Amino acid sequence: MAESMKGLKRTMRCGELSAANVGEVVTVMGWVQKQRNKGGIIFVDLRDRAGILQVIFEESDCGAENFAKAEKLRSEFVVAVVGRVEKRAGAVNENLATGEIEIRATELRILSEAETPPFPVEADIKTKEELRLKYRYLDLRRPNLQKNLMLRSKITTTIRSFMSENGFLEIETPILNKSTPEGARDYLVPSRVHPGTFYALPQSPQIFKQLLMCSGYDRYFQIAKCFRDEDLRADRQPEFTQVDLEMSFVDVDDVIDATERMVQRVCKEAIGLEVELPIKRMTWHEAMNRFGSDKPDTRFGLELVDVSEVVAGCGFGVFTSALENGGSVRGINVKGQAEMPRKKIDALVEFAKGYGAKGLAYLSVQKDGSYKSSFAKFMTEEQLAALVSAMGGEPGDLLLFAADKNNIVWSVLGALRCEVAKQLDLIDQSKFNFLWITEFPLLEWSEEEERFVAMHHPFTMPMDEDLELLDTDPGKVRAKAYDIVLNGVELGGGSVRIFQNDVQEKMFEVLGFTKEQAYDRFGFLLNAFKYGVPPHAGLAIGLDRFVMLLVKAESIREVIAFPKVKDASCLMTNAPDVVDQKQLDELYLACKPVEE
Ligand code: AMO
Ligand code: AMP
Repeated sequence: MAESMKGLKRTMRCGELSAANVGEVVTVMGWVQKQRNKGGIIFVDLRDRAGILQVIFEESDCGAENFAKAEKLRSEFVVAVVGRVEKRAGAVNENLATGEIEIRATELRILSEAETPPFPVEADIKTKEELRLKYRYLDLRRPNLQKNLMLRSKITTTIRSFMSENGFLEIETPILNKSTPEGARDYLVPSRVHPGTFYALPQSPQIFKQLLMCSGYDRYFQIAKCFRDEDLRADRQPEFTQVDLEMSFVDVDDVIDATERMVQRVCKEAIGLEVELPIKRMTWHEAMNRFGSDKPDTRFGLELVDVSEVVAGCGFGVFTSALENGGSVRGINVKGQAEMPRKKIDALVEFAKGYGAKGLAYLSVQKDGSYKSSFAKFMTEEQLAALVSAMGGEPGDLLLFAADKNNIVWSVLGALRCEVAKQLDLIDQSKFNFLWITEFPLLEWSEEEERFVAMHHPFTMPMDEDLELLDTDPGKVRAKAYDIVLNGVELGGGSVRIFQNDVQEKMFEVLGFTKEQAYDRFGFLLNAFKYGVPPHAGLAIGLDRFVMLLVKAESIREVIAFPKVKDASCLMTNAPDVVDQKQLDELYLACKPVEE
């Protein structure tokens, strides 16, 4: 039978005690990490979110009844202990914050017993993630996860103070919304009152924050839940959290300035990291040319080199036909890896194919200056020498080349340089490389839909000097859009918004909407613009990703209390799940059988 806390009041958390408390009588409560019975003396490690504390039971201090209870303790029992804080009689435990002290118990109450947990509640366990997620409430007791979630709480507190000090108002926006095309797939919620109609959960508060600017709130922020029905990866969840902000009467530099000061403050307060401002900026074009990615990891080199001009007119058909089709030939120089075994190179070729490459050409410069290569036989000595020189190749280097349309070459080599760096351990894990990417293209051609789609979203303002191109060459228009990148991960992004109705209508037109469709979907925004709208701009940071990178976690699941797995289900609650026929009837819904 569980005992009650009656008459006891916890004085502090286990992990908060230190040598300064020696001599005090305290009451602590928590979970039994471990019980060791050494005959006349019982050691118990007691755990709470602040840490672990050693408690000692001897019959002479606590009496026979309490001692008998201490003998019964098992891992994860919840107990209350009264006792005196003492300097450790045994060796000091350097691994514990409370390692210099222990508590000599005078009273013990078992508040709750526990079954043997399906896995040990310890900092570093090898337990499969599926099992951890099924018993997430136990997993969340582990010190690593508790540390992550406590830091996450500290970060949101810091963000709220920064925002408020800088004149931002925290305003909530609705979760039940109108579905708007563009972007990811919506999560839909059927309406009971209006049969056959649906709300959509917000992919972001984008339109509402723009409307708040129209309404004169000047500076808005929100720590906002967002929902996107898209394929999940290590840094993606179907529901996630944005630090979302919007500002009036500003341009690119103002948003960048406010954001980086917020990021600087969070890094300092959360992990003591000094971020030097201003954060470096790079245009999208430079990022693609040098790193093959709009979220480059700049902690290592392996930069791309465009050798199109050098190989133009050479005898290697793979290269020349890529150029004839309007593409390019680019390479990376993997320093000192000329001896990489053929099997490893073949694995890299397969890796490249996963990113759409038709192949990967290689050339290794041997110690004696000769070449080993998949294509050297198609080129003259002079052509090869020019190519090696363009790549900065020296004896001992391995050169890898991709030839294709620009987009493919970038994505292949962009991914390859990260993979090679990982394999060769070239990444300095202690670095936090922040970077702004600016001047994104406004539009992207979608082969699938055979039309332009917005690269950021349809409300993004073209750069002033490119406005004219919207009519003549939309693919060339650059946007007032910016992303903040940390160690190769897109941390956040935003843009200056279109605030003139004619530009917004033109944008919808370029995206292939008729005026009717545009008004049907976004009429409330277009109409709002008719009644006086300030120039405005904003951005959103992915909070989960930010915390993940600051704690150096492998996945965002490690910084979210109750995350979903790859197929968007929750292993603990079994959501999503079927519902009662009665619920469906109320919604006038019927489920179609799933076609195999
Ligand atoms: P965007 O779509 O770039 O911009 O999203 C902003 C940031 O949100 C994070 N993020 C995600 N995190 C976890 N799981 C996901 N599925 C996921 N999707 C996005 C990323 C990303 O950089 N309304 C605009 C912002 C603006 O223009 O103000 C927006 O939502 O870190
Ligand atoms: P092939 O003539 O098709 O046997 O190709 C010769 C070499 O070029 C092989 O090493 C291929 O992997 C490589 N290769 C093929 N297609 C490409 C490409 N698009 N870009 C770079 N290398 C390629």
